[in-house]
Amino acid sequence: MANDLTQLSVLLLEDVAGDARNVRELLCGADGYCFAVSVATTLAEAATAVGMTAFDVCLADLNLPDSRGLETYARMQALAPHLPVVVLTGYDDRHFATLAVHRGAQDYLVKGQLTHDLLVRSVLYAIERKRGEEELRRLNSRLNAIVSERTAELEHIVKRLELEIAERAKAESAKDDFLSRVSHELRLPLSIIKEAISLLNDRVPGELTARQEHILVVARRNVNRLGRIINDLLNIAKIESGTLELHLEPFDFGALVADVAEDFAEGARRKGIGLRVCRGPEPLPIQADPQCIEEVMMNLIGNAMKFTAAGHITITVTDCGHEVECVVADTGVGIPAAGLPRVFEKFEQFHTAAATGERGTGLGLAITKNLVEMHGGRIWADSAVGVGSRFGFRIPKNRPNRALESADWSGRPPVRNTMPPGGQDGAATAP
Ligand SMILES: Nc1ncnc2c1ncn2[C@@H]1O[C@H](COP(=O)(O)OP(=O)(O)OP(=O)(O)O)[C@@H](O)[C@H]1O
Ligand SMILES: [Mg+2]
Repeated sequence: MANDLTQLSVLLLEDVAGDARNVRELLCGADGYCFAVSVATTLAEAATAVGMTAFDVCLADLNLPDSRGLETYARMQALAPHLPVVVLTGYDDRHFATLAVHRGAQDYLVKGQLTHDLLVRSVLYAIERKRGEEELRRLNSRLNAIVSERTAELEHIVKRLELEIAERAKAESAKDDFLSRVSHELRLPLSIIKEAISLLNDRVPGELTARQEHILVVARRNVNRLGRIINDLLNIAKIESGTLELHLEPFDFGALVADVAEDFAEGARRKGIGLRVCRGPEPLPIQADPQCIEEVMMNLIGNAMKFTAAGHITITVTDCGHEVECVVADTGVGIPAAGLPRVFEKFEQFHTAAATGERGTGLGLAITKNLVEMHGGRIWADSAVGVGSRFGFRIPKNRPNRALESADWSGRPPVRNTMPPGGQDGAATAP
């Protein structure tokens, strides 16, 4: 097949010598083109010819000694599927020619009406159109190959994901079983120890010496701490496994914040630090899980108390339209800039010991962040060492009521910290 459109190789399928000569002559002397015409008088000859030469086009009379009508076109196409065919027809059998065009022949020409221009234009057009069709077919099959490749990849990914999901579900359910067992196994002996301490405290077995009383205080403090750690660990595990569900109900956000702050008032007074809540006079009704929001506030105010030795803690509640915001600002030790990006991660602690000397678990803020996000909200922090910290969060007033089944928060610890003195003026933050 010629790459150069000016050098074209034509297979002329024509058993009538006069017609063949006529076509040959008409193709001669075309401006800028050179047609090399090979004549086959039967389909059998055509088969041999296409086996030996790569033709650019075939001009075919459909009525041959060894094949007639449409069958000639069909057999020719089978012999050389990529060869463009222009049907040459007599006046009377144009019907077959039309059918051949419907089946893929490029054109048909009536022999008695052939002219040089008509023939050359039809041949060139047939070649071009066939090339276009071939290119389209090539692109199409490439596209199909790409689509099947991608589909296979996607199927593979989907299968892998399904497997992963199934495995994860299995692991989650194993984890849940483990958690409830651990919860039971740890809480039960702990409550027995607490009971024993409380009996000693009530002097049931008899009076205690000063030294025994001191040991009892240490034991009680550490048992309480152990209880908090167990609860925190179980709570974060529950949150992470998605088994903790929210109990949404309407309540006054500002009032809840004020109530939690009130629980810290005595501790703040003893430390000599200021503690105030700034909120509007109007109630701020929201739909959320009050226990969770209480936990969030306890963690944030508890931290502010724990890490503020002097100065003040200001809790600001703001109505932000569809959301409510609460910012807890303190004048405490602050958090080193390098640590701030990790402040909501589990077990990240940036101070060797809180001013009280009591060490937390490093889970409070991780739990807090999760609880805020479960409400569709966000939390942020800003801090400067020696200046203070600001922790703020926003939650929608009306969270879509998705998960309303009960969650076991019965063992949640109350506020954890009460603190000693020190500190200066507050750092600023923005959502
Ligand atoms: N208001 C704050 N001022 C200074 N440092 C803070 C403040 N809040 C948190 N941090 C730092 O971030 C760390 C992580 O806080 P987080 O509440 O998660 O843990 P924790 O208070 O140490 O322990 P717990 O699990 O009992 O809450 C703290 O140990 C402290 O170093
Ligand atoms: Mg904390």
